[in-house]
Amino acid sequence: MTDETRIAVPATAKAGTHCDLAGYEALYAQSMENPDGFWRDQIGRLDWVKTPTVMGNWSYDPVDIKWFEDGVLNASTQCLDRHLATRGDQTAIIWEADSPDAPSRTLTYRELHGEVCRMANVLKGMGVTKGDRVTIYMPMIPEAATAMLACARVGAVHSVVFGGFSPDAISGRIQDADCRFVITADAGARGGRPVPLKVNVDKALESCPGVTGVLVVRHDGKPVAMADGRDVWWHEARETVPAHCAPEPMGAEDPLFILYTSGSTGKPKGVLHTTGGYMLWANLTFHYVFDYREGEIHWCTADVGWVTGHSYIVYGPLSQGATTLMFEGIPNYPDVSRFWQVIEKHKVNIFYTAPTALRALMREGEAPVKKHDRSSLRLLGSVGEPINPEAWLWYWRTVGDEKLPIIDTWWQTETGGVLISSLPGAIDMKPGSATKPFFGVCPELVDAEGQFIEGPASGNLVLTRSWPGQMRTVYGDHERFVQTYFSTYKGMYFTGDGARRDEDGYWWITGRVDDVINVSGHRLGTAEIESALVAHPDVAEAAVVAVPHDIKGQGIYAYVTPNMGVEATEDMVKELKFCVREHISPIATPDFIHLTPALPKTRSGKIMRRILRKIAENDTSNLGDISTLADPSVVQALIEGRKNR
Ligand code: PRX
Repeated sequence: MTDETRIAVPATAKAGTHCDLAGYEALYAQSMENPDGFWRDQIGRLDWVKTPTVMGNWSYDPVDIKWFEDGVLNASTQCLDRHLATRGDQTAIIWEADSPDAPSRTLTYRELHGEVCRMANVLKGMGVTKGDRVTIYMPMIPEAATAMLACARVGAVHSVVFGGFSPDAISGRIQDADCRFVITADAGARGGRPVPLKVNVDKALESCPGVTGVLVVRHDGKPVAMADGRDVWWHEARETVPAHCAPEPMGAEDPLFILYTSGSTGKPKGVLHTTGGYMLWANLTFHYVFDYREGEIHWCTADVGWVTGHSYIVYGPLSQGATTLMFEGIPNYPDVSRFWQVIEKHKVNIFYTAPTALRALMREGEAPVKKHDRSSLRLLGSVGEPINPEAWLWYWRTVGDEKLPIIDTWWQTETGGVLISSLPGAIDMKPGSATKPFFGVCPELVDAEGQFIEGPASGNLVLTRSWPGQMRTVYGDHERFVQTYFSTYKGMYFTGDGARRDEDGYWWITGRVDDVINVSGHRLGTAEIESALVAHPDVAEAAVVAVPHDIKGQGIYAYVTPNMGVEATEDMVKELKFCVREHISPIATPDFIHLTPALPKTRSGKIMRRILRKIAENDTSNLGDISTLADPSVVQALIEGRKNR
């Protein structure tokens, strides 16, 4: 794909847009030249108990980030109370079940408000108070959003754990955040299979004695164990409390949530977002990036367990008074036309999904798409990983009939919301490019030494200015926050991504440059997978690298050295895959496990990952300098082993 492939803003996107090109340029310029003025103009997007007088107050060296610090508000009020007078009877959430035969559900803003207030009262009754951390481990049902908003209402900090994570992973997250409360459901369903959520929570809690209360939503309806004095059924408790609960006034810098994400080293970190800045960012980006129009139905296919679900299923759309669709299922159940069937059924206007889903559906040809009426669609979005031009063009032609704008939105758990994306009514598209920075966002390229690279070039992507939606710290470990994001290049936020800026100033994200693997848009740390592998008693050492994968974007290739005297067998490979599933999640299961008696190391004992990556990719023509290896013959043995796979 050449940079000349430029697709003009479609006429459908220009009509009624909130922002055309001149508008984008003017607002972007204002956000750079007069940030205080820009943010003063924007803070009215939220309902404040006390309107802030200070806008950004931040420094990257030393690291101290605050926005709207003297403001007071409650996040749930933005999403509920302020809509009651004008749109109380409008649908807030449409829920579509895993099975197309199960009835869908809807909740109006008034109903959702009542549910949130009741759950907030139940949580209070269980002993939850302002500042407490609450783990949420839920299927994709409206009660997941209710739980998040109920925590926000009482000033508790939610930590949503993706429903696909294992008991080990849940317990690690509960312990790290010192949570005393969990909200879960009996079971979920995905692709026709039950997901035993309560069973997983019970297992996790064996190692979390500090948890005193578990609120359980009945969804699946099959019996589950309930611990006396600890577990409470939501459907019973909700009958005992009023449907009104005064929102807790929160300082703008009070935490709203923690969300765990993987990095290049160590355990997943608890990314902490605060109330005022995050809410404004979620609201503002939803308004401009999705160019949301009154009355539209917005469908983000992510799970609420990821940041995309936080910002663009719950906080962004609800704070804007939109109708948000929550889907419990998967794209290919009961067949590969499910997405398009749901779009037809609910007359979806905005559709936001991940490249991995598009690549998988693209393989199935046009027919499953074309047989459904997609005339309600106005906008298509992509998130989570780089979208290859082929998938982009398929989205454009087959799904959008060459009429609908596509927004390729680049952002991270750490950024709270979108940072680089086209604005649909303003910016011409280029397939595979995230295009231009959002208001207030200042991306730059640096080389390995941290020197700025000007003009069209490739390099490491850094951000030189703070924006309100930026994470504030790693929960319980501020030093790790500073080290991870601000020490590689002093005075800048390092994204961990590589990027290219073309001659038109368009941004092309090329993927992670650190030891993070992006599997189907799920972010996994190589160190995390390695530690799950070495937990096997017969393993001496493991090294994990990414390999290109047609559907998943990246796959996981694990080199594992068994202990001396242990035989490398297929059974061992199976056990190792099981080990990863148990410690982390099925999403982290390696695609390949390469058992090897040794790994290539330097004389000082450092594993040469560069070489391992090349061998995994079957690209061994140019391995570079291997003379520094302690034992160069290891490389040949690995190449032979790779050939035999
Ligand atoms: O590498 C980038 C990739 O996903 C990473 C962030 O992952 P996570 O925190 O899980 O958040 C995913 C959803 C926002 C980034 O560092 N990424 C995300 N969106 C894009 C992307 N890469 C290229 N293009 C995107 N649109």
